[in-house]
Amino acid sequence: MGPSDLDGVMEIEKVSFPTPWSREMFIEDFHRDFSDTLVAAGPGDEILGYAVCWTIAGESHLLNIAVHPARRGQGIGRALLIECIRRAARAGASVIYLEVRAGNVAAQRLYRSMGFEFRGIRKGYYTDTAEDAVIFDREVRKSDAAG
Ligand SMILES: CC(C)(COP(=O)(O)OP(=O)(O)OC[C@H]1O[C@@H](n2cnc3c(N)ncnc32)[C@H](O)[C@@H]1OP(=O)(O)O)[C@@H](O)C(=O)NCCC(=O)NCCS
Repeated sequence: MGPSDLDGVMEIEKVSFPTPWSREMFIEDFHRDFSDTLVAAGPGDEILGYAVCWTIAGESHLLNIAVHPARRGQGIGRALLIECIRRAARAGASVIYLEVRAGNVAAQRLYRSMGFEFRGIRKGYYTDTAEDAVIFDREVRKSDAAG
């Protein structure tokens, strides 16, 4: 992800989350050497989806992932997640974790299908809707770095 991707990213972000990240939040991540900011782009550099993942001290954290509503269900979210895991492995992580809204069935199915396991609940974690967060994690193996 780079500055020229941000219009497309923000368009998806605003329709994907009750409390979207601001443009500045993405820009701050461009300056963090522990942050991977990824986009999936189509013909003409149309932004189809994106992900943000941090790797610090051997642990990766998936902070954001979204796909354009018109392009969901086509494998783009899975491809972004696979690339996050690959980069986590290359950055020396042994685990990747994330929080997801308790009611977000589509995302939870994606994570489980990628080997993530339930670790716990954070009650009322999302203050905008008072929804609980479900925590998932997955081991990151050296073999995940391939490809
Ligand atoms: C979650 C999200 C990123 C998935 O992206 P996607 O490109 O649609 O997902 P994929 O096409 O790669 O699907 C991968 C798997 O996710 C699950 N999945 C995706 N959409 C689903 C849906 N509508 N219902 C149930 N499961 C779904 C399935 O297990 C699917 O595997 P399958 O196709 O073999 O059945 C996308 O739905 C999205 O942008 N949602 C809004 C933002 C969001 O909730 N982000 C996650 C925050 S934690």
